[in-house]
Amino acid sequence: MSNTFYITTPIYYPNGDPHLGSVYTTVICDAAARYHRLKGEDTYFLTGTDEHGTKLAKAAADASVEPQQLVDKYAKIFRDLWKELHITNDDFIRTTEPRHKQAVQKIVQRMVATGDIYLGAYEGWYDEGQEQFVTETEAKTAAYKSTISGRALVRYKEPTYFFRLSKYVPRLIEYIQANEHFIVPESRRNEVLSKLKAGVDDLSISRATLTWGIPLPNDPSHVIYVWIDALTNYITALGYESADDSLFKKFWPGTHVIGKDILWFHTVYWPAMLFSLDLPLPEKVVAHGWWTAEGTKMSKSLGNVIDIPRIRALAEAHSLDAVRYYLLRAAPLGSDLDWSDTDFNKAFNELANVLGNCLNRTIKMIGRYRDGKLPAAGSLEQIDNDLLARASSLQSDLAQAYGAFHLQDAATLPIELARATNGYIDATAPFSLAKDPVKEERLNTVLNLSAQSIKNALVALLPILPEKAAAGLDQLNVAIEGKTIFQLLETSLPPGHQLKEGQPLFPKIEAAKPRI
Ligand code: ME8
Ligand code: MG
Repeated sequence: MSNTFYITTPIYYPNGDPHLGSVYTTVICDAAARYHRLKGEDTYFLTGTDEHGTKLAKAAADASVEPQQLVDKYAKIFRDLWKELHITNDDFIRTTEPRHKQAVQKIVQRMVATGDIYLGAYEGWYDEGQEQFVTETEAKTAAYKSTISGRALVRYKEPTYFFRLSKYVPRLIEYIQANEHFIVPESRRNEVLSKLKAGVDDLSISRATLTWGIPLPNDPSHVIYVWIDALTNYITALGYESADDSLFKKFWPGTHVIGKDILWFHTVYWPAMLFSLDLPLPEKVVAHGWWTAEGTKMSKSLGNVIDIPRIRALAEAHSLDAVRYYLLRAAPLGSDLDWSDTDFNKAFNELANVLGNCLNRTIKMIGRYRDGKLPAAGSLEQIDNDLLARASSLQSDLAQAYGAFHLQDAATLPIELARATNGYIDATAPFSLAKDPVKEERLNTVLNLSAQSIKNALVALLPILPEKAAAGLDQLNVAIEGKTIFQLLETSLPPGHQLKEGQPLFPKIEAAKPRI
C-alpha cells in the first residue's frame, strides 16, 4: 500500500458565491485528508476554481466587467472561505494561472501529436449553464431545456476540434468492469457502464466563437473547450508538464470527490484523456448526492441556495465542527440530501447531549471520586468487556469507513460509542458505587473504562470535529501532536493519569440571526 494520499474537490466556477453544495464537497475532502494525514500518510489536498468558458464570459458580460475581474473577485471569495472554514487544502489552483495554461497547451499538443485530436464540425444543442453538449435525444426528452437549470438549450453550429473519445470506450468499459472500486458508489458505476455501452461520440474540445479560454496550440483561432481545460487541473497543479513534476510523480493518481452532476466528465472524458496521455487513471471517483433545501433543488442559476451567511451564522452559534458533523451525517455518501433546520438541531443535540455529556460526566466523576487521577481498572465483568470490545473495534471500523468513503459511518460510529458509554455509566451507576466502600475497585473499573472509551470516541472524531475533538482530548490531558490516529486509539490512558478541568464541549449559545 502506498503511503501517499491525494484528494481533490471539483474546481468550482467563480461566477458567484460558494454555497452549501461547494461547502459539502470541500468538507468531505477535508475530513478525508485529515484522516489520512492523521494516519501518518503523506497527504495532498487540492481545490481551486474553473475560470474559463462561456458560462464565465457570460456572467462577466452580465456584470459589465472583464472576465478576469470577475474570476479574480470570486476566486478570492472561495479561497478566503476555505480559510475561514479551516479547510486544510495544500494548494488552490486557478485555471487562468500561467502554470495551468502552459501545461494544458502541452497536454493538447501531445494529443494532437498522437492523432487523438482532429478537426471537424459540430452542430447540436448546448447547455451553457453546465458547459455541456446535449444529444438530440436528450434535448428532446428534456423539451430543449437544461435538466439542471431549466434554461433553454442553445443551438451551436461551428467548426471544432474533436478528441477521439470513442476510440477509448472499449478500454474504459473493461477498466471499469475490472476495477470494482474505481467509481463509488456502486449505483453510479452501473449508471456509467450502461451509458458507455449505449455508445459515445467523439468529444468537441474547442470553440472558435469564444475568446475567454486557453488558445489551442495548433490553431490559436480556437480556444480549448472547458472540460479539457478543467479536468487537467488535477495534474497541472502537481506540476505535470512543468519543470518540476516531483509532486506529480509522488501523488498521482489521486481520488476525486465530485457531485453526481459531473460524474460523466470524471469517469469518461477524464479517464479517456489519461489513456491518451498514457497516464494512470484516478484511484477513485467518489460521487456524492445532491442537496435540496426543504425539498427544492438548489442551484446558483435558480437562486434558492443555502448560502454562506446562513452557514456562517450556524457556525457562530453552534461551532464550525457542528456544521461539518451535520453535513457528513446527513445521509450515506452518494445519496441525495435535504437541508432541514430540525435535522441540524438534532445533529447538534447529539454532539452536546451524547458526546459532550459523556465526556463531561466522566471527567466530573473522576474529579469527584478520585481527585482527577485515573484509577486502574480491576477485574472485568461482561458489561466491561462489551464496552472495551466496542472501543477497540472502532479502529478497524473507522479504517473501513474512510476506505469506502462511508463518511456518515465515520461520523456516527464514534458517537455511537459515546452513546454506549453513557449507557454503560447509567447501568453501572458509579454514583451508588461511590457510596459503598466495598465497591471501590468496581468504581475504579467503571471510571477507567469510561475514560478509555470516550478518549477513543474523541480520537476517532478528530478528522470530522478537528477543534472540538482536540479540545475534548485536551480536557482528558491527551497530547495528540506527533501521534497517528491509530497510536492514539491503541494507547490506553495509564493509571494515575491526571485529567484536566471539565468544560462543556458544545455550550448552548443563543441562536444567532443569519446575516443577510
Ligand atoms: O461543475 N448539492 O463547477 P460548479 C451537492 N467547474 N453538491 C453541489 C450542489 C448541490 N446542490 N451544488 C453544487 C463545476 N455542488 C465545474 C467542475 S471539475 C474539473 C469542474 C458541488 O461550481 C458538487 O461537488 O458548478 C458539484 O460537483 C460542484 O459543486 C459543481 O461546482
Ligand atoms: Mg454546476
